Amino acid sequence: MALLDLTRFGRAAPRFLDMAPAQADFARAVIDGLSRPEKQLPCAFFYDSIGSALFDKICDTPEYYPTRTEISILRDDGEAIAQRLGRAVQLVELGSGSSLKVRLLLNQLEAPMGYVGLDISRDHLRMACERLAADYPTLEVTAICADYHDEVPIPPPRDGMPRRRVGFFPGSTLGNLTPPHAEAFLARWRHVLRFGGTEGGGMLIGIDLRKDPAILEAAYDDAAGITATFNLNLLARINRELDGNFNLAAFRHLALWDADRGCMSMYLVSRLNQIVRVADQRFAFLEGEAIHTEDSFKYTIEGFQAMARRAGYTPAAVWTDPDGLFSLHWLEA
Ligand code: AVI
Repeated sequence: MALLDLTRFGRAAPRFLDMAPAQADFARAVIDGLSRPEKQLPCAFFYDSIGSALFDKICDTPEYYPTRTEISILRDDGEAIAQRLGRAVQLVELGSGSSLKVRLLLNQLEAPMGYVGLDISRDHLRMACERLAADYPTLEVTAICADYHDEVPIPPPRDGMPRRRVGFFPGSTLGNLTPPHAEAFLARWRHVLRFGGTEGGGMLIGIDLRKDPAILEAAYDDAAGITATFNLNLLARINRELDGNFNLAAFRHLALWDADRGCMSMYLVSRLNQIVRVADQRFAFLEGEAIHTEDSFKYTIEGFQAMARRAGYTPAAVWTDPDGLFSLHWLEA
């Protein structure tokens, strides 16, 4: 009777590392943001477990084209993409969310040495990585609950040195940073990705492209109102976690294309003059006053590649859909 190689089947439980920022960071960011002359809240705080589930629903709306378009690129060009990445890579997914897109990549990659999912939303991350580990039993799966804007030490695979470490940053999430911050972010991760074997590291990154503003504004204000609920959930989260008393019905969702800055911007606009309490502080709102909650920068292919070069990468390949809505870039680190 042949002996089973049990080491191949022993990985089903992912490693879990918790480096989540303290709750105090949320409180500080909210108080600071609402105290400014032009009120703002950082979009990173959208993603508690309710916000993460709402974001998954946004991705299924007919108006929000980035997710399905990026998936179509991963399907259509998966073989060519996998060839570029090569064999025995350690994949590090930044903002892994539900870890669905990475499956398309894993299905094409030759003998990947490990997958590290990094996300701020603890429960969402844990569940997604457990499902991934169950579906890919020979893959070493590590879940790190952290903010990928912080310095996050990435453990090497247990089985030794990968041929290259590859960052996977889909969804155009880089677009949620202003261009100078995006460039600094890319440069910082380049140093983390240069770890590993002979091939040098790389980054596979999804970037949303500039297009007709009407398409963009619909994508950020879907008819079913899911993006509006996602935006308002930030206020609901403040109520839940920071003892706030926002009346959600007293704010409305607004999404606008900012042609000067090249980004979609989201706001929550006060419907009336009101005073809101957060913890033990009070904030006055005038009717029509807005809280700026998110920017989502859109690039041209050339504009993004120029930024990647400034951050120290060599843009080596780019794939797009037939309508030129979205782009997936392979950057050598
Ligand atoms: C996560 N991020 C890339 C999304 C975006 O398109 O900027 C977040 C989002 N906001 C509204 N809809 C989706």
